[in-house]
Amino acid sequence: MRHSESDSEQSDFSYFSRRGFFKAGPAIGAALCAPAALASTTAASPEHGGPSSRFLIPQRRTLGAGSSGMEVSALGFGCMGMNYHRGTHPGREAMIRLVRQAVERGVTLFDTAETYGPFINEELVGEALAPLRKEVRISTKFGFNHEGGRANGLNSRPEHIRRAAEDSLKRLKIEVIDLFYQHRLDPNVPIEDVAGTVRDLIQQGKVRHFGLCEIGKETIRRAHAVQPITAIQSEYHLMWREPEKEVLPICEELRIGFVPYSPVNRGFLGGALNEYTRFDSENDNRNTLPRFKPEAMRANLAIVEVLNRFGRTRGATSAQVAMAWLLAKKPWIVPIPGTTKLAHLEENLRTAEFSFTADEIRELEEGVSKIDIVGDRYPAEQQRQISR
Ligand SMILES: NC(=O)c1ccc[n+]([C@@H]2O[C@H](COP(=O)([O-])OP(=O)(O)OC[C@H]3O[C@@H](n4cnc5c(N)ncnc54)[C@H](OP(=O)(O)O)[C@@H]3O)[C@@H](O)[C@H]2O)c1
Repeated sequence: MRHSESDSEQSDFSYFSRRGFFKAGPAIGAALCAPAALASTTAASPEHGGPSSRFLIPQRRTLGAGSSGMEVSALGFGCMGMNYHRGTHPGREAMIRLVRQAVERGVTLFDTAETYGPFINEELVGEALAPLRKEVRISTKFGFNHEGGRANGLNSRPEHIRRAAEDSLKRLKIEVIDLFYQHRLDPNVPIEDVAGTVRDLIQQGKVRHFGLCEIGKETIRRAHAVQPITAIQSEYHLMWREPEKEVLPICEELRIGFVPYSPVNRGFLGGALNEYTRFDSENDNRNTLPRFKPEAMRANLAIVEVLNRFGRTRGATSAQVAMAWLLAKKPWIVPIPGTTKLAHLEENLRTAEFSFTADEIRELEEGVSKIDIVGDRYPAEQQRQISR
């Protein structure tokens, strides 16, 4: 098998056929919701003053292969929005608690970047995970200059990557970075030099695995020849399927894992945003994205309606439909939804309880494909930095 999910997925769910879950129809589907409780630990909850069932995500997936393989929970946790680009958040202590609650629920992959904040997100993640280091894998990213508290241009020169690694290690309070991604391609530095620099860091024991974000297939091939890549991280969801054309095929060919970021399209596929939503002008990049303009959101809500319709008889929310679709595409895909809320964290992790048949995937894709998506994914300048 070229890409694998660990056997634990099968054994943990052996008491019912996950593949048959949707085929069995709504009535049986509802009845089968009961095993969710079996997969959960029931405990008195000091937070809420009563018994609660805490979902545990048992499924594991492997990103990359051979000595570049890394086994992680089937869904990771994208930490960016806990202080950056997603508007208001409940504060540092609450976010540290939430990261630890994710670990308690079986999440083992935590994604951050030096540029989130900048720097503050790594510090938060480092503090939250310090007591739990052995249980988790941490991914972070390099590739920007920072000045005056913000990113200021691309920089993947080898000496800059080495410095970024040292600084990230300190902020994250760890000895080795599990997965070190280039955040955006630097057109002034050949990818072979970037891959060679990360290879050296791996040999020095400072980094375990190498990744690239938002990158084209030829660049992936060139980088992989120097240092085998563990994961490509790019935007991918039902409103942005571009990676299916070239990136997923080359990942399959080279046995590289794929980590879809913004798996619920920055909250949009969760259904709570609409044309009246106002984003924080200081700390929310959705303000700048064409698909989050009021007229685009008004039109694109038709997609959320398709997801809701599909999920309604199956007991799934629109966010769960969106992410179950991603999980169904390939067994080496690991989405990293972000949230500031325990309820959303649990809802997102429960996505792993759903599985779609090929017919169901087709039905869902056909429903979405009938809708013309309004608005570009990124403004022109940001679009120029991707898929090269
Ligand atoms: N490599 C890159 O260039 C890149 C770019 C962007 C992001 N990322 C990574 O990907 C991670 C996730 O991306 P993202 O934050 O852009 O997008 P996302 O995970 O698709 O969406 C996060 C947003 O959705 C909301 N949300 C989460 N679960 C929900 C649910 N079940 N129902 C309704 N709303 C829900 C969250 O709000 P609440 O807080 O209210 O739940 C948050 O505002 C980031 O944290 C980061 O690690 C990487």
